[in-house]
Amino acid sequence: MSTGILAAHRARIEQRIDRWVAGLPDDPLYAPMAYLMRLPGKRVRPGAVLLAAELFGHDPDDVLDEALGIELFHNFTLMHDDIMDQAPLRRGMPTVHTKWNVNTAILSGDAMLVKAYQLMARDPEVLRLFSEHALGVCEGQQRDMDLERRTDVHVDEYTEMIRLKTAVLLGCALQVGATLAKAPSAERMRIGAMGEHLGLAFQLRDDLLDAFGDPDKVGKQRGGDLRAGKRTFLLIRGLEKSDAAGRTELREELGRSPEARDVQRMLHVLDELGVEAEAAAEVEHHHAMALDALDTIDVADARKAPLRELAQALLDRVH
Ligand code: IPE
Ligand code: IPE
Ligand code: MG
Ligand code: MG
Ligand code: MG
Repeated sequence: MSTGILAAHRARIEQRIDRWVAGLPDDPLYAPMAYLMRLPGKRVRPGAVLLAAELFGHDPDDVLDEALGIELFHNFTLMHDDIMDQAPLRRGMPTVHTKWNVNTAILSGDAMLVKAYQLMARDPEVLRLFSEHALGVCEGQQRDMDLERRTDVHVDEYTEMIRLKTAVLLGCALQVGATLAKAPSAERMRIGAMGEHLGLAFQLRDDLLDAFGDPDKVGKQRGGDLRAGKRTFLLIRGLEKSDAAGRTELREELGRSPEARDVQRMLHVLDELGVEAEAAAEVEHHHAMALDALDTIDVADARKAPLRELAQALLDRVH
């Protein structure tokens, strides 16, 4: 989010976060929350709440609490995801469980989820939506772990896994904004569909950046997914293409322990097999589907410009 309305919304969100952090009790339970929330996140999900409210003619300042609630929930998932993925870095800084310890990250994350719920309870329909989608994220994280143990994962299973772990929350953020703006239910469904496609593109791009991005910009360990053996689009298609071509490097490396895995060698194979371009084409496909869904919404076209700008910013992102 860089220009115009997006930058203005970002400033509103940062201000709301600063106020929230300043109000936290002086107690060790809250220190990791303050730490993670202050690190430079892109604030995509709270931005989506504000943009959706505005699309349907509602004052974005009125939905800031729910926007903060969604960002808190997102940060809770990151705190626990980093334990699950054994990730050393987040937003360019040590993860909570490495800076403190695993138990602290579990408990502080739990408390963060409670804090998120307190902010999502104003409107019963928002609370229902949020609960449903938050459970979806947990189901997606479970599938992510299940797939890690398998070597025969199909791309369709991957797509359903990322739909749950990532895309539903973007869809939820847009639906929350639209719901608070009292948009008709058919329009809420349409903007939710836009969010799911944006989210699929977002996670595919995340997988690409994990392997091929600039780690200084991404703020995470390079090739962390390959080291952990994550079944990403890149690895799934890499394995399929390797098998077809009789190449064994990827399966050899997957057979080693994460510490002994030669990530550089795996990246080299993926590069040679051309799976990077294939993943980029999938990102484009879901980006286009997101814009198609936006086109179906019955609102003057000029009002849709900020959401198109958000979609473009996510497509071009380098972190
Ligand atoms: C990271 O989300 C987790 C994914 C779903 C890929 P973001 O890339 O939005 O992380 P921040 O909030 O900007 O750090
Ligand atoms: C994260 O997926 C999804 C959730 C946190 C729910 P990843 O594990 O790919 O996210 P990063 O790469 O650690 O941010
Ligand atoms: Mg992770
Ligand atoms: Mg993960
Ligand atoms: Mg990732």
